Amino acid sequence: MMGQQGINHVLAVHIRTYGCQMNVRDSEAIGALLVRQGYRLTEREDEADVILINTCSVRGKAEDKAVGKLRLMGVEKRERPHLIVGAVGCMVQRIGREALKRIDGLDFAVGTHRLSALPAVIEAIRAGRGPIVDVGEEETEPEALAGHLSGQVLAFVNILLGCDRHCAYCIVPTVRGREWSRPAESIMREIGALAGDGVKEVTLLGQSVMSYGRANVVYPEAHVSRHGFMEALPRLLEEVSGVPGIQRVRFTSGHPSGCTEELARAMGELKGVCDHLHLPVQSGSDRILKAMRRGYTAETYLAAVARLRASVPSLALTSDVIVGFPGETEADFEQTRLLMDAAGFDNAYIFKYSPREGTPAASMVDDVTPDEKMRRNHVLLEDQDRRGLDLNRVLVGKVVEVLTEGPSLRNQDRWAGRTTTSKITIFEPRAAIKAGDTVKVLVERVGPQTLYGSVVGEDGI
Ligand code: 5AD
Ligand code: SF4
Repeated sequence: MMGQQGINHVLAVHIRTYGCQMNVRDSEAIGALLVRQGYRLTEREDEADVILINTCSVRGKAEDKAVGKLRLMGVEKRERPHLIVGAVGCMVQRIGREALKRIDGLDFAVGTHRLSALPAVIEAIRAGRGPIVDVGEEETEPEALAGHLSGQVLAFVNILLGCDRHCAYCIVPTVRGREWSRPAESIMREIGALAGDGVKEVTLLGQSVMSYGRANVVYPEAHVSRHGFMEALPRLLEEVSGVPGIQRVRFTSGHPSGCTEELARAMGELKGVCDHLHLPVQSGSDRILKAMRRGYTAETYLAAVARLRASVPSLALTSDVIVGFPGETEADFEQTRLLMDAAGFDNAYIFKYSPREGTPAASMVDDVTPDEKMRRNHVLLEDQDRRGLDLNRVLVGKVVEVLTEGPSLRNQDRWAGRTTTSKITIFEPRAAIKAGDTVKVLVERVGPQTLYGSVVGEDGI
């Protein structure tokens, strides 16, 4: 199968990922698929035979970055003529053949819907049958992409593909297609295998994950679970949190319309379901929220937050905000600042609006100047740093439970992990520890997004 270079040379593949957790998940699935076919993965670009760039389309800048990287790789091919350079993911799904025009030296482009075709595509390129573009109609079976790399502590699991929301600014429904929920049984099979492989934490993924089970049937029959849940996501959370070995369960991203009483109860009652939620708000102005077609107001957003907090008092909330959406005035922007305070976000990702071709917002006038977008971006980041610091200060002197992920990137003597509230925690280990251990950490100092401390014993000393 491995072609001309013979059996002694195992082809090395380097995968670089841009974009969201779904792309991270796709990259891992591709990696697992290629490893099964006899390739090996490498962290190093310079020793790779195949370089795969997994692209994102969400903002113009995300595409520019990936295109820049791919062009560099194309140039690199002059020195390394056998190097194969390919693009996969959302941008490819969006622009198709255009990718070959934009990127000199590109060998192949495979869209999000056709990832399972990758091994065959790479083989064909090696046999000299390139370049190849595949953004075909026949969609990859999700089961073909259920593979994971082994030896991980955390794992992402797709539960809902596509998105039916059609927010005015968003390209995702165009590239990722219609919503489709995976049957619970197949998700549970994947998670059972992960638990068997030592995974401790799973994050259930969907662009709008609370729509799980809405567009198609995921449980063959109506049923009231042991905890009395009838809705699909709470039922799934109950099942996943019951898998032996799985200590933590997360799900992302949320939408206020999905924050039902039952979901709030599931988050509060189910041991293992983390007290953290990523609940993008995008704006705090009702006028802008309407233009964005978000389907809620500032008031109903805050009501959803209140419902969750009533059931999960320790809840940490993170969010996404867009500044400079068409027509956003200073007054609208101030509404956003107020809402972010009222919601009490632990962390927030701020994005400058960027028009995406073919979306409804692209036909509106992009009337907030780049400088003003930049200013609003800075203001929100400063607000968020202050808020994050205030929220984290309360934790100084307290003991938090941390699932360790490995040595800290900056200083290898220290370790890093996350709390159940998803706060990055850097700590000095007391004795030998390994990734996947849960330790108690006494918080000694905090930053806006990070906790620092040292490990204490079970008794907190
Ligand atoms: N411009 C700027 N930000 C965007 N996002 C999505 N589309 C756009 C766009 N056209 C942001 C949203 C979303 C996050 C993943 O990216 O905040 O939640
Ligand atoms: Fe993820 Fe959206 Fe970017 Fe695709 S376009 S990688 S779905 S953020």
